[in-house]
Amino acid sequence: MYDNSAVVGLQWGDEGKGKIVDLIADDYYAIARFNGGANAGHTVIANGSKYVFHLLPSAALKNKKLFISQGVALDPILLDEEMRLSSAKDVSVDPRCSVVTPLDKEMDREIESMRGEKRIGTTGRGIGPCYAERALRVLPRATDVASDEFDFNSLMKFYERFLARVDVKEMNEWLKRAGGVLKPLLKDVPSEIRMINEEGKRVLFEGSQGALLDIIYGTYPHVTSSSTLATSIPYYCGIGLKDLTGIIGVMKCYTTRVGGGFFPTEIKGELCKKLREEGREYGSTTGRARRIGWLDFVALMYAIKLNNVDEVALTKVDVLAKLDEFNICEAYSVNGEETTDFLRATAGNEEVKPVYSRGWKIGEINSKLSGDAMKFVEHLEDELRVKVRIVSYGEERDKVIFLE
Ligand code: IMP
Ligand code: MG
Repeated sequence: MYDNSAVVGLQWGDEGKGKIVDLIADDYYAIARFNGGANAGHTVIANGSKYVFHLLPSAALKNKKLFISQGVALDPILLDEEMRLSSAKDVSVDPRCSVVTPLDKEMDREIESMRGEKRIGTTGRGIGPCYAERALRVLPRATDVASDEFDFNSLMKFYERFLARVDVKEMNEWLKRAGGVLKPLLKDVPSEIRMINEEGKRVLFEGSQGALLDIIYGTYPHVTSSSTLATSIPYYCGIGLKDLTGIIGVMKCYTTRVGGGFFPTEIKGELCKKLREEGREYGSTTGRARRIGWLDFVALMYAIKLNNVDEVALTKVDVLAKLDEFNICEAYSVNGEETTDFLRATAGNEEVKPVYSRGWKIGEINSKLSGDAMKFVEHLEDELRVKVRIVSYGEERDKVIFLE
């Protein structure tokens, strides 16, 4: 049994995982990204500058060993850029990693436009097509891209429809560049992680997106294409089931989501605008305005159970503190009947209305929580049966309170 931990999102992404990973990274020897691709945007504020990482783990600025596991949809050219920007040197990419090619991005946009009104609102980063090709077993893995044997001609048949618009010569030039990036980085990530653990050192696994965007357990079809749950880490990273001992769930003290789909606590109008501006709730990958809503205990309880969360980091408390009062969704009313069954509420075209408790307050927030804020945290702990360990109240590294 080894003592590794994970940081995962408990909502629809953008919970503030980047800051939490950066904050606790020093307790770990290595940081591993396990899912998603450049659809993610993990923001870290360090030394007065803002960095957004799409592929590298958020501890890229910390001189740590970094892993990209086989579960990641990898854009090698973007990886190269991020490695240069962050001057991260010690990066290992699993050879089994799925590679996103320019064709996948093209296909992502094409499929979205075909969906018309029913579009998911993807990030256009080719994530869906990449994982789909993996399931179809036509995808070039990192090891294939880095070998000099693969070439796009072999994919011609599969891509016939799309290739009318695509220049195969350009594609193969891309391949050469991408292969050059990958060659020196390819390592057996599961073995490397095991070696680190055998030396008594710990690894932190960094999730992207959030539980409610999980391909299977999320609000399908408005989900991403990989698993976002901590339970997928042993599989995506090739570690033992017992080698993951701590699971830290990150939740924002209100809710956001980008793109379409289920969102019963969504707020419209002036209040939405206020929270969006105060919280700078614009997609860090696409710049799209995020939808905003109240905290949703039904969805959170579902996410906490599926992730087996031990401890919670509560983020953006300073943003909520700008409101005189806020609401918490404690249950749903589904077709007029009160329930906390998330699956039932999301199963079909049910009419789902939030049942709120109202009048919650944060009050002044600096290095200590006010009585009102403490009441809110205690209520959250009681209802969701978790321990809140970290409260984050600003973008900077030091705007954080550790609770006993
Ligand atoms: P895709 O992952 O680009 O296919 O997008 C599918 C859905 O997941 C869309 O609603 C996206 O907005 C959403 N999504 C994907 N990645 C993130 C993320 O990192 N944060 C928030 N939403 C995301
Ligand atoms: Mg994000």
